[in-house]
Amino acid sequence: MGSIWLALGFLDALVGTGFSYSRTAQGFKTGDMKHAISCYNFPRKSHPKYDSNPLYVAGDSYSGMIVPIITQAISDDIEPNHLLLGNPFTDAKFDGNSKIICYNRMALISDELYESAKSNCKQEYIDVEISNRMCANDLQTISENYYCYLCKVWATDINVQKALHIRKGSIKEWVKCNKSLDYDDDVASVVSYHLCLNTRGYRALIYSGDHDLAVTYVGTESWIKSLNLSIVDDWRPWIVDGQVAGYSREYGNNFTFATVKGAGHTAPEYKPKESFSMFKRWISQQPL
Ligand SMILES: *[C@@H]1O[C@H](CO)[C@@H](O)[C@H](O)[C@H]1NC(C)=O
Ligand SMILES: *[C@@H]1O[C@H](CO)[C@@H](O)[C@H](O)[C@H]1NC(C)=O
Ligand SMILES: *[C@@H]1O[C@H](CO)[C@@H](O)[C@H](O)[C@H]1NC(C)=O
Repeated sequence: MGSIWLALGFLDALVGTGFSYSRTAQGFKTGDMKHAISCYNFPRKSHPKYDSNPLYVAGDSYSGMIVPIITQAISDDIEPNHLLLGNPFTDAKFDGNSKIICYNRMALISDELYESAKSNCKQEYIDVEISNRMCANDLQTISENYYCYLCKVWATDINVQKALHIRKGSIKEWVKCNKSLDYDDDVASVVSYHLCLNTRGYRALIYSGDHDLAVTYVGTESWIKSLNLSIVDDWRPWIVDGQVAGYSREYGNNFTFATVKGAGHTAPEYKPKESFSMFKRWISQQPL
C-alpha cells in the first residue's frame, strides 16, 4: 500500500473575522479584490515548496466571491488544478433574486404571496424601485431569520482558543459575522471567472445544501446554467448508505454540481457523513 501526503492549509480570513486581526486600523481596511490578492500571496509566498503539488482551492459561503479570483490568478502561473465551493455566493443578482423562488419551493411562503411578489416586483427583488409600494409590501411580508448561537460560545471558550493556537488575548469574544468590517464589496459577480476557469480545464465541484436560504441552490443552479456548458451526466441521485444523499449534474470539462439533501448553510455542518463521501469520491476522481 502506498500513502498519500497531503498538505492541508486552512486560512482564517478575512482580517476582522474569525480569529484574524490587524494591529493597525489601516490593516482592517479591505475588500473583495484586496482580500483575494492577500489570500493568493499567502500560500505562494509562505509555502513555495508545495508549488508543484496538485492544488485544491476550496471555500464556502462568501468565499464563493474570493476563491474563483484567487484560482484564476493562480491559473495564470501554474497547470490547471481543482476548485471546490459550497453554497458559494457568486453573483448579487442570481443569488439575491433566487431567494424568493426558494422560499416558495420550500413551502415557506404561500403560492399566492409568491405570485403577488413575482408580478409586483417583476422578478427583481434586489434593485427594487423605492416608489414600488406593492413590491415593498410583499417583500415586507417575506422575512428571513437564522442564527447560530452555539458556535459563538464554542469559539469564545478559552480552551478552544488554546487548542487552535490563537494568540492569547487577541480575540476576546468571537463573533460569527463581524458587521462593523471596513469592507468594500467591490466585485458584484464572479460568474465570468467560472467560465474562464472551466475553459482553462479546471475541475470544479460546486455543491449546495438544498435547504440553505442564505445562498440558495436555485441561485447557484441559475448562474451555472448561464455558463451554457454541455451536460455530460444529467440530474441524478447520488447515494450514501443506500439513501439518496443529494442530486448531481455533471457538465463538460469536469464541472460538477451537486445538492446535499436536507443540508443548510453550509452543507458539511448539517450532513457531515454525506458531505465527506461526496468530497472523497470527487477528490478520488470517481463519479459521485
Ligand atoms: C471587526 O472588524 C473591526 C474592523 O473593521 C475590528 O476593529 C474589530 O476588532 C473586529 N471585531 C472582531 C470581533 O474581530
Ligand atoms: C448562453 O446562451 C445565451 C442564450 O443563447 C446567451 O444569451 C448567453 O450569452 C450565453 N452565455 C455564454 C456565457 O456563452
Ligand atoms: C477531467 O479531469 C481528469 C483528471 O484531472 C483529466 O484527466 C481529464 O482530462 C479531464 N477532462 C476534461 C474533459 O477536461
